Amino acid sequence: MKKGTEINRGTRSYATKDNRFAIQTFSLSRKFGDLVAVNSIDLSIEEGELFSVLGPNGAGKTTTIKMLCCLLRPSSGTATIMGHDIQKDTIAVKKVIDVSPQETAIAEHLNAWENLSLMGGIYGLEKEEVKKRSEELLEMMGLTKRAKDKVRKYSGGMKRRLSIVMALVSDPQVLFLDEPTLGLDPQSRRSIWEHIAELKGKKTIVLTTHYLEEADALADRVAIIDEGKIVALGTPQELKDSISDIQVMVVKAKNLTIDVIEGLREKYPEVKEVEDGIEIKAKEFSFDEVVDYLRPRGVVIESTSRKQPTLDDVFLHLTRKELRE
Ligand SMILES: Nc1ncnc2c1ncn2[C@@H]1O[C@H](COP(=O)(O)OP(=O)(O)OP(=O)(O)O)[C@@H](O)[C@H]1O
Ligand SMILES: [Mg+2]
Repeated sequence: MKKGTEINRGTRSYATKDNRFAIQTFSLSRKFGDLVAVNSIDLSIEEGELFSVLGPNGAGKTTTIKMLCCLLRPSSGTATIMGHDIQKDTIAVKKVIDVSPQETAIAEHLNAWENLSLMGGIYGLEKEEVKKRSEELLEMMGLTKRAKDKVRKYSGGMKRRLSIVMALVSDPQVLFLDEPTLGLDPQSRRSIWEHIAELKGKKTIVLTTHYLEEADALADRVAIIDEGKIVALGTPQELKDSISDIQVMVVKAKNLTIDVIEGLREKYPEVKEVEDGIEIKAKEFSFDEVVDYLRPRGVVIESTSRKQPTLDDVFLHLTRKELRE
């Protein structure tokens, strides 16, 4: 199997640093008191790769990004960005990265130009250079016409796009996008995806998201993280293939009680309650067995059917958590 593309339910250890990679993490961990937010993550991300970190709320995505951007110190372990250690070579790391944070850090009372010029100042860039790059980036993100408007008049999608422009103005080699489309409607999300797709291959990009479709549409590889740990790693197709042997059985029924469902879970742990019945996910199951269990317990079965698992089911199967709130 090709290196770096295998499905991985544990973590991989890289004993030595390897300069082929834009980002490498070595048992990267972060605790907050007793809470282990990031738990010994080992990752190697190639130059030019678009790598997506997918996980439910509180999985540790932002904490990981913050450590990689030198905004938060690891409790143990470390990482390198373009060969520079995030703890020992902070200045060198900061020169090659930029981030569009989850909570966008844009000055609302300024317009796009003013925000970009502030950003250029922070990076010590020449004014002419900032102007030239800003023009190109605003055009690329479809913001040129509104660039002189104060940011507080922008829609959520426009603010997200400006946040990405701000992260790109320093022309970073490695770009971190923390939930670039959070809370946007599907149309605005797709528009941002198109813009991100234009950057593919030109920069190393780490993108965190809740949206499976987003990782599916954009990422070369995806790491699914839950409770600070990598639970799966692979290309989007490999992740989908990894559960192709799982079946979802849909039972439409009345008179289902909590006790009956709990009893069923002893045999099939992944029983999900839906509006008009239950869905059971398993590698192997028998319709007859389920029906024979339910009927004598007073459950009225209206229909049974089988459906193919969706990507949401993949995620739910791996993490036992719903992806969206
Ligand atoms: N400064 C902090 N102090 C204490 N706990 C924190 C702090 N920052 C994060 N945590 C905790 O660490 C865990 C991981 O949080 P993190 O923000 O990394 O999750 P996330 O995957 O980015 O979630 P979301 O999808 O909601 O953005 C959570 O349980 C969170 O409450
Ligand atoms: Mg987050």
